[in-house]
Amino acid sequence: MIVGQSSVMQKLRADIASVGATDFTVLVEGESGVGKELVAYGIHHASPRRRGPFVAVNCAALVETLLEAELFGIEERTATGVRGRRGKFELAEGGTLFLDEVADLSVGAQAKLLRVLQDMSVERVGGESVRAVNTRVIAATNRRLSEQMRARQFREDLYYRISGVELEVPPLRARREDIPLLTEHLLNRHRHGREIGVSAAALDALMAFDWPGNVRQLERVLERAIALGPGATVEVSDLPIAVTRGYRDLLEELPRGTETLRAWSSRYVRVVLDRCEGNKRRACDQLDISYHTLRAYLAFAQGASRGDAQTS
Ligand SMILES: Nc1ncnc2c1ncn2[C@@H]1O[C@H](COP(=O)(O)OP(=O)(O)OP(=O)(O)O)[C@@H](O)[C@H]1O
Ligand SMILES: [Mg+2]
Repeated sequence: MIVGQSSVMQKLRADIASVGATDFTVLVEGESGVGKELVAYGIHHASPRRRGPFVAVNCAALVETLLEAELFGIEERTATGVRGRRGKFELAEGGTLFLDEVADLSVGAQAKLLRVLQDMSVERVGGESVRAVNTRVIAATNRRLSEQMRARQFREDLYYRISGVELEVPPLRARREDIPLLTEHLLNRHRHGREIGVSAAALDALMAFDWPGNVRQLERVLERAIALGPGATVEVSDLPIAVTRGYRDLLEELPRGTETLRAWSSRYVRVVLDRCEGNKRRACDQLDISYHTLRAYLAFAQGASRGDAQTS
């Protein structure tokens, strides 16, 4: 299940449904841990192939010679002691083949993959005949494949062959408003029957962090908190110091001297707006205030920085 109610995730869900209905090859891009495999599975699940297999291959995990046998299969007795087996393309017959970390394919493997995608048929290593395959390919990468291509590390023809439809999964820090729901979802996944919640302060800390490792990192942090925390509530003290440092700094900063609630609020609004990369609509959504109210806070902040609004 893909959790998230932010506008970017709603858009992504709609895109998954519409590309699911087609048989196009899809390229899923996004930083590590953002949920690329989940999105690929979502496309498979939304497609007419949903009853067929979903087969994942990590292209970074295998050297070129092994990868070929893994993808295309190998014929019995190709070398002494080798047992014949089907490749992932054949195993994904009638379903979807997920090529993870596709940017890590060697140049030789890229050429072979291109040929298979063009003909939709595979030849097993050491084999003589060619078999047709009926598989939908979804590829994923955490590097910008277009840049890899321009740097001549990725074949241009293969790039165009697999990037007909591109879906970008945004980093978690660009959709912080999803953190509460994700936290609840991930706590449920790992609580093993225990009753467990999260304190408001801990949730604030989770929302303030930048999550370079995205949802996967959030999941690890929560797993650790469940395992090590004794109580029924995850507290700030159950979170790694690296995660809570920014939040603790923020706490120490607030309130400043005799700062009024209005002055503090407008400062807070500015912080949220920065985190939304200046996107006022998203800031309004996150703060649950109207555009008009947001503008009033920003005007106040400007006045305050000029020193003429201290008393209001
Ligand atoms: N939107 C989401 N809702 C629920 N769970 C999510 C979501 N996004 C990611 N996850 C969970 O986070 C973990 C990482 O997701 P996934 O493996 O799909 O990411 P990835 O982008 O493929 O990561 P990597 O680049 O490390 O391979 C998984 O346990 C997945 O179930
Ligand atoms: Mg992955």
